[in-house]
Amino acid sequence: MSLLAASKIPVWIEDSIVASRAQVFAQQYQLPIVESPGEGVYLAFTQTGIRLVVGSGKSSQEVQASFVDGKADHRRKFGGGKGQSIAKAVGLSRGFCPHVLDATAGLGKDAFVLASLGATVTLIERSPIAHLLLEDGLARAQRTATDILDVALLEILQRMTLHQYDSCGYMDSHEDVFDVVYLDPMFPERKKSALVKKEMRIFHEVIGTDEDASALLPLALDRARYRVVVKRPKLAPFLDNRKPSYQLLGKSGRYDIYTNKALPNG
Ligand SMILES: C[S@@+](CC[C@H](N)C(=O)[O-])C[C@H]1O[C@@H](n2cnc3c(N)ncnc32)[C@H](O)[C@@H]1O
Repeated sequence: MSLLAASKIPVWIEDSIVASRAQVFAQQYQLPIVESPGEGVYLAFTQTGIRLVVGSGKSSQEVQASFVDGKADHRRKFGGGKGQSIAKAVGLSRGFCPHVLDATAGLGKDAFVLASLGATVTLIERSPIAHLLLEDGLARAQRTATDILDVALLEILQRMTLHQYDSCGYMDSHEDVFDVVYLDPMFPERKKSALVKKEMRIFHEVIGTDEDASALLPLALDRARYRVVVKRPKLAPFLDNRKPSYQLLGKSGRYDIYTNKALPNG
């Protein structure tokens, strides 16, 4: 059964130019197409991309994958480079640009940071909605980069390859070994969740909380040549109750690092 089957999120086509794309998606997951968006959650297909929207009017909130403006773009240009915790966690350095399997791709933000720093990233996302948003964000970035001839951005995007699978099945059935496997499953929301970012709250509502996340770690350890990196909220228990080899603190959370073998650059 598809992950969407229970939720039946309506699809709203804002502009006829994107109608066929919306119709294909709606048909594939048997989602209703609505004439006008209501108060609840819906998928908006617009000329400026696909958005997951909650509510209407001023209080509405929306999620869109975006790489050429806002935070992602700012972080790419001014973000602290290989000194960032995420770069240290995957072992990125001048002498080592790993091939990373991002097995919980979400909106592709972490993957974009890693690819911006030189890593090659295979992104896997199982949720049809998250995959749709991410695919759309990558396609829009590709068009912008082509239009404005941003060669650096084109190279980054070339290093990112997205697939729609369940990573457990993917890691179980594929022989491929990656330098690093990166995991950032959703963590159940706590009550006082002012710290949980807006888009994570919407994701929790629509996509769920990845209750099955523990199963990812043993499979990831089998697929990682050097290490598995697990991103966790600061106070969260270890994934699969396994103690990591060591930890790094990031701005908004921590990275638990499970090493299989020393990195090639020591
Ligand atoms: C917290 S989000 C990841 C955010 C991501 N790191 C980013 O930077 O945008 C977790 C995502 O992992 C996906 N996910 C969880 N378990 C998965 C699995 N077994 N296979 C593929 N995707 C999975 C969820 O659908 C969700 O989109």
